[in-house]
Amino acid sequence: MADAPLIFVLNGPNLNLLGTREPEIYGSDTLDEIAGRIEDRASAAGAEVEIRQSNNEGVLVDWMHEAQSDGAKAILLNAAGFTHTSVALHDAIKAIAVPVIEVHLSNPHAREEFRHKSLIGQAAYGTVAGFGALSYLLALDAALAL
Ligand code: DQA
Repeated sequence: MADAPLIFVLNGPNLNLLGTREPEIYGSDTLDEIAGRIEDRASAAGAEVEIRQSNNEGVLVDWMHEAQSDGAKAILLNAAGFTHTSVALHDAIKAIAVPVIEVHLSNPHAREEFRHKSLIGQAAYGTVAGFGALSYLLALDAALAL
């Protein structure tokens, strides 16, 4: 669609293993299944989504820059483990004008202490966490409402 808003959905390390990775915490849906639901909701809303996953921090930084040059309306970012460590991703959020919504399947604040700090949340527009795969759909609604 010509004027459809474009939303990038970027996923960080180990999220390629969703489905079998600690299902008691992250649920049993695979990333592909979640991606399908995001695509369905986006197309019902007349939006376009670009959904990607990488285990590499620099690749995620490059994709955030690409989202800006492609004219994305927003980025949904589940930085996974990089959430708690990555100055580079924090800086990337600050470096672009595209609003970034932090997404998590689990609620990091209800988990280990080291997950309570988010370098992503300190730079992001907002955060949706703790709703399992639904977190992505809620974040998509928020992004489209911005
Ligand atoms: C996660 C939470 C992070 O703490 C963790 O490192 C992940 C997944 C989530 O979606 O709940 O890999 O981002």
